[in-house]
Amino acid sequence: MSKKLFPQIDGLLHGGDYNPEQWLDMPEILEKDIKLMKEAGINTVTMGVFSWATHEPTEGNISFDWLSPIMDKLYDNGIYTILATPTGARPAWLDEKYPSAMRCDERGVRNHHGVRHNHCMQSPEYREKVRIMDTALAKKFANHPGLLMWHISNEFGGYCYCDTCRKKFQEWLANRYDHDINKLNKAWWTTFWSHTFNSFDQIDPPYANGENCVLGLNLDWKRFSTWSATDFMRFEIDTLRKAGATEPTTTNYMEMFYDYDYHYMSQFIDVISWDNYPEMHNSWQSDAEHLLERSFNHALFRSLKPDQPFMMMESAPGVVNWRPYNKYRRPGMHKLISMQAVAAGSDTVQYFQIRKSRGSSEQWHGAVIDHIGTNDTRIFKEVASLGADLKNIGEVAGSISKNQVAILFDWDNRWAIDDAWALSNETKNFDKTCIEIYNEFMRFGIEPDIISSDSDWSNYKIICAPMLYVLHDGIGEKISDYVEAGGQFASTYFTGYVNKDLLANLGGFPGQGLDKVFGLKSEEIDTLYPDDRVTINIYDKVKGTYHSVPVHDYQEMLRDVTADIIARYENDYLAGKPAITANAYGEGHAYYVACRTAQPDIEYLYREMLDKAGIVYTKLPIGIEKHIRYADDAQYDFYLNTNTDTTFLTGIHGRDLLTGEDIDGTLELKKYQVTIIKH
Ligand code: GLA
Ligand code: ZN
Repeated sequence: MSKKLFPQIDGLLHGGDYNPEQWLDMPEILEKDIKLMKEAGINTVTMGVFSWATHEPTEGNISFDWLSPIMDKLYDNGIYTILATPTGARPAWLDEKYPSAMRCDERGVRNHHGVRHNHCMQSPEYREKVRIMDTALAKKFANHPGLLMWHISNEFGGYCYCDTCRKKFQEWLANRYDHDINKLNKAWWTTFWSHTFNSFDQIDPPYANGENCVLGLNLDWKRFSTWSATDFMRFEIDTLRKAGATEPTTTNYMEMFYDYDYHYMSQFIDVISWDNYPEMHNSWQSDAEHLLERSFNHALFRSLKPDQPFMMMESAPGVVNWRPYNKYRRPGMHKLISMQAVAAGSDTVQYFQIRKSRGSSEQWHGAVIDHIGTNDTRIFKEVASLGADLKNIGEVAGSISKNQVAILFDWDNRWAIDDAWALSNETKNFDKTCIEIYNEFMRFGIEPDIISSDSDWSNYKIICAPMLYVLHDGIGEKISDYVEAGGQFASTYFTGYVNKDLLANLGGFPGQGLDKVFGLKSEEIDTLYPDDRVTINIYDKVKGTYHSVPVHDYQEMLRDVTADIIARYENDYLAGKPAITANAYGEGHAYYVACRTAQPDIEYLYREMLDKAGIVYTKLPIGIEKHIRYADDAQYDFYLNTNTDTTFLTGIHGRDLLTGEDIDGTLELKKYQVTIIKH
């Protein structure tokens, strides 16, 4: 079962982005950095992310003579390299000569040269330059003993509205709709407002000053843009492979990223990695709540390839510099955030950045090595202390999470909900709803995976699909089969309203026959104002008690209900009608929550699902997170105290991996402490 990402590395990776090209005229800096890296227990660096202008200062003049000796020297000192393709930013000469490399904005206006992450994914001229560069890189560095993996570009994101992309979009649409414009017209319901197209070449991207009211077009544009970025990434991977690269590939993802469907992209890379920048100690949320959002993200990325560890490719030592308020992490928080990633299944703790750049826009961004350049800064000491701990727990590398609960999170569903002219744009909150459900399971010490409706569901005993507005083809049947075979499946208001083209399902919601699985139909969805006061009354079968729970944002009116009624509305025009139901169907149960409540208020439902699924749980004290990783012959339970107070847990047995002590009963967790129990 153990699935180590890098056989060369004994244990976990600790390192980060390193930019020696900024210091070539100060060779003593490299010497100093290597010494400090070793002191901090750093065993890997990511280089070359933004090195194009150093690799190729003028067109055709490619040389890696600056990088080669640095990579060798690092390797001699036990520090491996993750090598990036430099396509995240372009030299001035390139944009000057090949302006098509520069993206066009949503009005179709071409950018000027500058900044980064803004190339056109389809520009043939840019691709050719990239091909030459990536080929040269792979020819030079593939199979270097110090090379761990290829980091493709950097933080892919955004859309390009240039003419080349417009034509590619038309081609992509022609393929999707079998070269039949009427098929597209039907799918997009274009008779509405006389938006009918006669041919594919009439179709524009959804320009800000053009057609952006055809919802099918908007959605297909996002699908196309996912394809386009993936196509570019695949082109880079393919180029490296053709030139002899054999190492694994990754590209660094971003939290809750919206522009592209990561489920689609992830099929084409070897390892999932992401950049984690928590906003700790903020004024609107407790640290515990904020860290749970981090956990949700870790789960999302882990679940993209659930059978292997993922990588936390970037995180900030101390502080970032791009938020409205850039507050330092308080002492001890660095270790907690880093260990949380490992607990959730990361085999790496990596930073942006090893050394602060002396000038330009990131000169005040946190780094392992500050401008003062010494090993006695608070941040350096916290990084070094973590480095020692990571070394101690190296044996967890390659172990994986195996979870029995999952939450459905489809990118096109997110996009479609936000684009639907319905509900309230102030309170749709699909992401937040998923996070709240995740949090509720975490309170029971049960960690969910975050999957898509097209994933393999066979390992999960409980699946929650909140607001599954868009049903992909065949999903009704998939849910029906899942429940029939014994699964516990929970949905909410705003489920099963449209098909993959965003056309309303006819004959009642949820569509695709799901009304039978849930034993109900939804007839109205009502949007509440923030100060509307509505409640439901829940019957707790176990406790034999009734209690009243507030509803906010949304309430559906159900009809034709044959399912068991767990809760009923108490007031307003829905008074007395069902609000939460459970339907026995085949060997399993389908639950429907027709209104939005706080999740802890409907805890009864979670206990019911967990009991029916036969999952054993213990409710954790507030602020304690639990994650489990499994190796072939060991289980590692991670307990994180995100509170500032000492917290005690009982019923814990096993060996404390960090101290080597045996724990037999009570575990004391001090402020921000992480303990890993092996058994
Ligand atoms: C991103 C980028 C890095 C750096 C950091 C700063 O994650 O990938 O190059 O700019 O942000 O936080
Ligand atoms: Zn373009």
